[in-house]
Amino acid sequence: MSLLVTGIGELVTNAGSPEAARAGDAPEGGASAGVERAAYRGDPVTRLGLVPDAALVVDDGRVAWIGPAAAAPAADRAIDLGGRAVLPGFVDSHSHVVYAGDRVAEFTARMTGQRYDGGGIATTMAATRAASDEELRGLLAARITEFRAQGTSVVEIKSGYGLTVADEARALRLAAEVTSETTFLGAHVVPPEARGDRAAYVDLVTGPMLAACAPYARWIDVFCEPASPYAFTGEEARTVLTAGMGAGLLPRVHGNQLGHGPGVQVAVEVGAASVDHCTFLADADVAALADAAGTTVATLLPGVEFSTRSPYPDARRLLDAGVVVALATDCNPGTCNSSSMPLMVALAVREMGMSPAEAVWSATAGGAAALRRSDVGRLVVGAAADLCVLDAPTHAHLAYRPGVPLARLLDVSEHSSAR
Ligand code: NIG
Ligand code: FE
Repeated sequence: MSLLVTGIGELVTNAGSPEAARAGDAPEGGASAGVERAAYRGDPVTRLGLVPDAALVVDDGRVAWIGPAAAAPAADRAIDLGGRAVLPGFVDSHSHVVYAGDRVAEFTARMTGQRYDGGGIATTMAATRAASDEELRGLLAARITEFRAQGTSVVEIKSGYGLTVADEARALRLAAEVTSETTFLGAHVVPPEARGDRAAYVDLVTGPMLAACAPYARWIDVFCEPASPYAFTGEEARTVLTAGMGAGLLPRVHGNQLGHGPGVQVAVEVGAASVDHCTFLADADVAALADAAGTTVATLLPGVEFSTRSPYPDARRLLDAGVVVALATDCNPGTCNSSSMPLMVALAVREMGMSPAEAVWSATAGGAAALRRSDVGRLVVGAAADLCVLDAPTHAHLAYRPGVPLARLLDVSEHSSAR
């Protein structure tokens, strides 16, 4: 059954031009197509490929037609959005949402002066290990509902709060029930019981844990952060990523969150799809990311700086150097307990030097590039019909009206003529 969506005051296609959106361009094309496209440099508003007064036809879960409302073809059903803006569903390329318990006490302590160092991850690990499969599944389902209610259609989910072979495999098994973007993060921190022998823990992660987790994971990640006594060095990170790649997983990296460090360099060296945080960068890191713009995305997580009371990453510096930038929530119980991509857009605009157009692109197409996806993060003919509707006339209202629940996903499977 086809669905005609009319009354779209402004359609964000991320196609670079309305013509390109109408033509479509092989959304299932090569694995790196999305990243290469993302390296396009040009006017940020032009890059959004805005179509004013648009209509769109959805057929079988895909975008089948885009164009001016006046030229819209007939369809089985129709819905009028009354002049609202539509953008691709947010692509949240970084989350840690398979966990039990919370760390509000740690957050409160931080707001009265304590620093974040990763030590609290062990608290969540203990609560997660103690939870049943059913409890974790229920918590995860509620979090996914929360993401979707705010306009997010794709969520990457990491393990990393189990840190035993069985607990990591369980986390990924549960994550794989709700997303195809699953990431093995056995190298989140060295768990308390292994702190006497870090090398043995790295052996566990790269050996039996990887073997048990790889069937449920697309990605391998590591918290490469020598500034934290619990996380991993550049050398350890290389070992973990290389082993994961040997098992068929694709690399991504947590790096440069708490201080200057080797995370970005390691990520670029192994051809990671993304290096996430990028809060403390040397000029050489920025240059390396600019050189790797067709391969490695810098994913900024402003909710972390908000919730750890840290300086924000300098998005302007990265964008001006030609780096491909994504925005994501990092939703987790420690450093950012928010699933709100609209909040990330608003923070990026207000605190990190991004324009509304740049932030919206980074939260949609940028996230897709960070996941090497070309079928999401864009609304072009052939792409997934993930429509995020705003209770507002333009994409810029996401930053202009911070904290207001403007965004929701359109349920294209059920709507008839009623909104
Ligand atoms: O991305 N930095 C490492 N991992 C998470 C935080 C996890 C936690 O504190 O529970 C992050 O910020
Ligand atoms: Fe993270």
